[in-house]
Amino acid sequence: MAEYYPSITRRPGNLIYNRDGTVWANYLLRGINTDPYQTGRIEACQDANARLFTALSYLPASDFLLLGVKAQTPADVIMQKCQLGVPGFDPNRFQALTAQFNSLHSRIKLGERAEHQRVYWLSIGFPVYQSWRDRILSSVSVIDPHQRVDDRLIAELEERYFKAIPAQFRPLRTTPDDVRWIFDRARQRGITVPEWNVLANPSWSGLPEPVTSNGKKVEFIRPVLDDNPGSFAQIHVNKNADTDSLLESLIDKVAEQNSSVVMDKPSALRALQNAFVTTRWGKMLSISNVETRSPEFPDGYKSFQSLFGVTLYPEQETFDINTFTYLVDQEVGCDADFALRFHFDQDVLSKRAMRKAMRELNDEARANSQDELDDEEYGDRRTEQRDFRRTAKRETAPRGMKVAALFCFSHQNREFLEDRLAELSEHFAKHDFGIIHPAGGQFELWQAMMPGSSCPPPIDRMKQTTTATLFGAYIPVRRTVIGDPIGMPIAINKENALGQLVLWDIFTAAEKGNASMTVTGAKGKGKSHLQKVLTGFLIDTGCTVHLIDQDPDGEHVVFAQTLTNTEVVDVFGGVDALGRRVSLDVLKCLPPELAITMFLNLWLPLLEFSSKSDEAELLTTLLEPRYRHDFGLTSTRKLIQHLEHGVPDERARQLVTGFKFWARQPIAGAFIDPEVAGEVIEHEPFNAKAQLVIFRTHRQSLHRGEGQPTEPERFAAMAYTAIALLTSHRFAGIRTPCVFVGDEMHFQEGSDVLNELIDRPDKTGRRLNNFYIASAQLAEVFRSKHYKLVNRKVLFGQLTRDTAAEAFSYADIPPTDRVVHKMVHETSPLDENKKPEPGREGEGWYCDGVNIGQFQTLPHLLNQRRRYSDTVTSRAIRESDLAAMPARQMDLQR
Ligand SMILES: Nc1ncnc2c1ncn2[C@@H]1O[C@H](COP(=O)(O)OP(=O)(O)OP(=O)(O)O)[C@@H](O)[C@H]1O
Ligand SMILES: [Mg+2]
Repeated sequence: MAEYYPSITRRPGNLIYNRDGTVWANYLLRGINTDPYQTGRIEACQDANARLFTALSYLPASDFLLLGVKAQTPADVIMQKCQLGVPGFDPNRFQALTAQFNSLHSRIKLGERAEHQRVYWLSIGFPVYQSWRDRILSSVSVIDPHQRVDDRLIAELEERYFKAIPAQFRPLRTTPDDVRWIFDRARQRGITVPEWNVLANPSWSGLPEPVTSNGKKVEFIRPVLDDNPGSFAQIHVNKNADTDSLLESLIDKVAEQNSSVVMDKPSALRALQNAFVTTRWGKMLSISNVETRSPEFPDGYKSFQSLFGVTLYPEQETFDINTFTYLVDQEVGCDADFALRFHFDQDVLSKRAMRKAMRELNDEARANSQDELDDEEYGDRRTEQRDFRRTAKRETAPRGMKVAALFCFSHQNREFLEDRLAELSEHFAKHDFGIIHPAGGQFELWQAMMPGSSCPPPIDRMKQTTTATLFGAYIPVRRTVIGDPIGMPIAINKENALGQLVLWDIFTAAEKGNASMTVTGAKGKGKSHLQKVLTGFLIDTGCTVHLIDQDPDGEHVVFAQTLTNTEVVDVFGGVDALGRRVSLDVLKCLPPELAITMFLNLWLPLLEFSSKSDEAELLTTLLEPRYRHDFGLTSTRKLIQHLEHGVPDERARQLVTGFKFWARQPIAGAFIDPEVAGEVIEHEPFNAKAQLVIFRTHRQSLHRGEGQPTEPERFAAMAYTAIALLTSHRFAGIRTPCVFVGDEMHFQEGSDVLNELIDRPDKTGRRLNNFYIASAQLAEVFRSKHYKLVNRKVLFGQLTRDTAAEAFSYADIPPTDRVVHKMVHETSPLDENKKPEPGREGEGWYCDGVNIGQFQTLPHLLNQRRRYSDTVTSRAIRESDLAAMPARQMDLQR
């Protein structure tokens, strides 16, 4: 027969009627988002929690349970959030994107990318009265334990409870199905984390409210499958799992030593219990899921669970916010949930109660203290009591509260769990928490973590005195999520072990004009990879991207092989790795009216003529659209030829000399069609229809620092300005988001290019839907005025404490010793070959504009993109290899 707990008699709506006569109202709460980097936000979260407990303290209720339980976000909810990030998403129109989404979906289903959330279940016990006679009779099922319960009163109270929960927690009433879910979670802890449909609720997930065909809002209704607790999955609870294992190993050892002695189980148990009295009581229980029985698992899948209770809290000042209940979300190596059992009692604040508590302590001390050390501990506790009273007195209207905190840690492997428990107890002890890990009583603790169960007396005795406000400071009802509510999946939140997928909302952010992003990090820490992931999504969602690729091996060109509709421009030469000749000549690329000023802006400084010179005037005349048309001046080369042969004038001679100097330079090939052996080689204008245009700029750098620029550096400045002008001209004519991606922007530092490219999209971004993504090794590059308006910042690892501290302060994160150490030593550590350790690539911090958290960029979702983005292994593909591996339409499914 299934054992289930608590013994529920009825559960209409969000109520639970228990056989012991108690009645409970149940709610689901969403944690308040906070992060550990912004003190203001921590305080806000503490206030919200204090408000919650204070509100509860005024309710006429007898008992409370707050359960923090781990649930898996349904894969469909994640997929919907991704799809909502693309206006008018249609799988046929967005094939590459669909392939990415499908890959993510299967990874979620496999568990590789499962996202978990902590859901808070609040049970409030109604103050129902039951006489001792009724209680005894109902325990043998003679009478209905709830015969005296007035349904109307319950309904009224329930309404009051619901209204009392602050709206910030987005409270929802539970359904009978949720009780089943909780039971499933409790019995499978450490084995699997079931998906929970509550996480699809619009008020939690950010998904749109369902509407009827005529636009009316429909209430979000979660399905109720079956209301009979008798149909809950069967389990078998072994309350003494650790002793049983000891027993088995004892029998094995005896057999090993002397094979003639065969020990049977009962006699082994007797021997064990005689030798070690406490082995009668387990410190661990196992829950067998009988329905999954198979020859390999004769008892079904077994979940080993061990429960701790907190009996002593550290002083507030030294308390580390991650140590308390948030611990269950950390990388603790096993699955974990927590529960708080509490009630409110103003008496605990009175002098009399304090005196009583002191007296109890004294008694306890007399009975228990065996040596000096113990005595000292009791002494400490007495001071604590006094301190508490002093703190509580300072509060304006303190609400007395008694709380017991319970933790349940679980795993499928008993030995492993035992190791973890040892470490966890140490962790609590190190942070000044007193814990008990009771031998025996494990099942009682387990039951106490079930909604609808009364607080068992041993746990009642564990309760510590505090106030609603003081306890709120522990922020038990919290979450830490980063990124946008909808959008493209780009990373995993690493602030905790829940695996939240970080989304990036391209379209809304672009509209609001706050989408620009800066990326900092040392070599090999993942800047380019992130830009490739983002570029992939931008192209797949139909946005336009202009990208500057500074890498000698053309890493972005290689990656672009996996994207559709791309164009590569070799800026300093005009011939790309595949031998294609492309031109950036403004006379070819821009409409004639626009070309005049742009041409003059670009060339006059290079030819060293002022804009007021006679030469400038001549050029202006020749560039008149009419004139150009009549003389067929369709390129700069043709203009030079015309000047040389068609204009008999000293000014023309001067201009020709200047132009010819540049025309002979190999780096000018993309601006003046080259002449080889008297033949002009025509370059096609760059394809301004391509969705992705990559400007290859590795052959020439800009002038930086002191001294005069060299001639090629002066040319480079012109070329970058040309890119900037052509880019902003093109972006201005496109309504969908247009993005400028600049890898290694430190190469552009201090140049005028930034005015056009960086400043403009920022200030006019809102109207034009444009933004940029810029990377550089050092954060100081982004201190320049051009980057002022950026509020999305990614910080990857740095190699020195100075650069790390600089990066943090650039992102407004206090550069504490701990985070700086983490950024230098524990963020994508490099192996002896200076490559990131496998599995640790792309770690860093992400400020999404509001929230800050540690994160890790996702690898590419499509295998082909992974292959073409790899720059580390010996298999890395270079731009020069592409001729041998010609671009072809990629098979998106591979
Ligand atoms: N999140 C990730 N998942 C998988 N691989 C990654 C991830 N982030 C980075 N990598 C890999 O790590 C290597 C180094 O990353 P990347 O080239 O992006 O570093 P970088 O910061 O641009 O360095 P550099 O300054 O040398 O250009 C690349 O091979 C990249 O594919
Ligand atoms: Mg790079």
